[in-house]
Amino acid sequence: MTRHLKVDKPDHDNRLDHMVQGVLGQPLNRLEGPLKVTGRAAYAAEVRPDKIAYGVLVQASIPAGRVLDIGDAPGALAVIHDPRMIRYASQGMDQKGPKAGPDQVEYMGQAIALVVADSFEAATNAAQNLSVRYSAETAVVDPNAVKPELPPKKQSNTGDLAQAMRDAAVSVDAVWHTPSQMAAAMEPHAAVAEWDGDHLTIRAGLQMLSSNRAQMADALGIKPDKLRLLAPYVGGGFGSKLGINAEAVAAAIAAKQLGRPVKVAMTRQQVFDLAHRRSETRQRVRLACDADGRMTGIGHDVLVSNLPGTQFSEPVTQATPFTYEAAHRQIVHAVAHIHRGCAGSVRAPGEAVGVTVFECAMDELAEAAGIDPVELRLRNIPDAEPVSGRPYSSNKLAEALRVGAERFGWSERRPTGQQVQGEWMIGMGVAAAVRVNMLIESRAKVTLHPDCRAIVETDMTDIGTGTYTILGQLAAEMLGLPTDRVEVRLGDTDFPPAAGSGGSFGAASSGNSVYLACEDIRRQIAAKMGCDETDLSLHDGVARAGNVAKSLSDLIDSPIGAEGHLQPGKTEKSVRQATWGSHWAEVAVNRWTGEARVRRMLGVFACGRVLNEKTARSQCLGGMTFGIGIALTEAMEHDPRDGHAVSRDLAEYHIPCHADVPPLEVHFLPERDAYVGPLQAKGLGELGICGAGAAVLNAIHNACGVRVRDLPATPDKII
Ligand code: MOS
Repeated sequence: MTRHLKVDKPDHDNRLDHMVQGVLGQPLNRLEGPLKVTGRAAYAAEVRPDKIAYGVLVQASIPAGRVLDIGDAPGALAVIHDPRMIRYASQGMDQKGPKAGPDQVEYMGQAIALVVADSFEAATNAAQNLSVRYSAETAVVDPNAVKPELPPKKQSNTGDLAQAMRDAAVSVDAVWHTPSQMAAAMEPHAAVAEWDGDHLTIRAGLQMLSSNRAQMADALGIKPDKLRLLAPYVGGGFGSKLGINAEAVAAAIAAKQLGRPVKVAMTRQQVFDLAHRRSETRQRVRLACDADGRMTGIGHDVLVSNLPGTQFSEPVTQATPFTYEAAHRQIVHAVAHIHRGCAGSVRAPGEAVGVTVFECAMDELAEAAGIDPVELRLRNIPDAEPVSGRPYSSNKLAEALRVGAERFGWSERRPTGQQVQGEWMIGMGVAAAVRVNMLIESRAKVTLHPDCRAIVETDMTDIGTGTYTILGQLAAEMLGLPTDRVEVRLGDTDFPPAAGSGGSFGAASSGNSVYLACEDIRRQIAAKMGCDETDLSLHDGVARAGNVAKSLSDLIDSPIGAEGHLQPGKTEKSVRQATWGSHWAEVAVNRWTGEARVRRMLGVFACGRVLNEKTARSQCLGGMTFGIGIALTEAMEHDPRDGHAVSRDLAEYHIPCHADVPPLEVHFLPERDAYVGPLQAKGLGELGICGAGAAVLNAIHNACGVRVRDLPATPDKII
């Protein structure tokens, strides 16, 4: 039986809060943790079938042009040069990648061929000695050197911003730059492909198995039901594994041609070249307010880039229309199509850099108006979404600011430049956190066995986020089982298709499908008990209704199962739905070196129901850490001659390490959001990054009076 739910109306029934098991929300350790720390969880690159051959990707050494000829590779089993590798290379989930012809080179470092040999070393050697002839074309690699396009849907204009700026008592008009950024997941992209007749199995690091299967089948020209994808363990994705990449397509083509399993694992530098980057951004923010700090005008003009022929562009202004009040508003979103590496979704696409810059601008407005930055924000939180008038499903920004100010000790903040400890200048900064919320269609199957064991199966992934654990907790809660009696199976397209891990929608979307399946099983149990499902209580393998109590093993003699199917419906159009929070940072700036050290941070977040306090907190810690990276250290530099990524490993592209990250505190505001299905949980994965960097940058200003608008704020820019 499949239980379908299209979310067409709000669900205010808090029945999960009344379940007796009490395990949902608990800070349980990750169920698969021991497998990972003991090396028993096999990632794609660690799988070694018999007769495996090794493929190494060959990368273009020109930024634009055509491949004329590829020579032989002595010592190699095969050289694969196939247009199917290129079409899907390095894309996000919502685009087909560059519309390249079979031999077209669109950027320096693009995958153009695969060399396969009996060992990785032999393949690497042969790939290095491969001669490739090109006909080179002129490549524009500077986003400011082309005429940008204005995709019509992304512009919006209300009132007269220019007039509002002229009439304003206080205004800000400044330009910020953020550099290209990388997902930089720990596990480099890898795939092992194996054919059995016309049936293909690929193990790979992927975030979204059901859509990845469709993309892969399309790329290879095979039927989706001939393809099985396996990704039981994924070492982080952060967007870089949302779509399929060149390595998986190339492995499949080579395995077919050679009649052997083929593994293609990218090197770290290849990941930086071939996985998509987050576009650099140029952001002009204009803000206008009256003498009381009531905002009258908001302008956000953005320039981003991507390859010619691509559809994706970093949605920088995504939260701008609904975060603050102002009668006069203007959004301009321009895209420069240039020959830098492909741009795609990276860690909270849009808000990660958009909210960060906007919240720096808010700090500047507060300073110009002489109003406390917390107070300025509180004065401008709308009652309903501006322009559309839609209600918010919930909006806890004000509460997050008030609670955060209290917990952080905001009242201790001193005027700019007035707190000094020896050679360190100390400052505090605040920023709002906001991220759109999405719900995605998802299916899961749950089976309850007479020995009081439940199995959850879905092709959902766990990319280090805790999916195994939270889905197990949820099933345990609803079926009245100890958590160790629930087995969760993920990462296999033989299971029902799930939302996948992306856009913060994974836990809530897949969780709702597990909820629905369990609800159906509860109904089946209730029927056996002769009661209504709502009168049924399940605890520790015992079913109770009124005075009757029966053990589940007596009640069922053969496995009972159900599938849950969640679909987004009308509710998401009827409200403005987002997750909200606030970021707080204390930063010390060295008077002589300009070095900025974050001393402590607090994040206060509201995301609907928290499914596991510990995994949720970990998501926020990761986001806040990336916020430090955006503010202080992360930059992918492009060679001005050919657009090639210069900083393309974890030494040159500095993600904050332990020494950069002080104690971080995370606080959740209790919340239930009725507009996202019975689970009442919203996305959390990406909220922690949105605006976090602004709290750091605003703290730097409070410490020493310097505004850095060209990120990251390295010492040379502060001093
Ligand atoms: Mo996310 S950047 O949608 O994995």
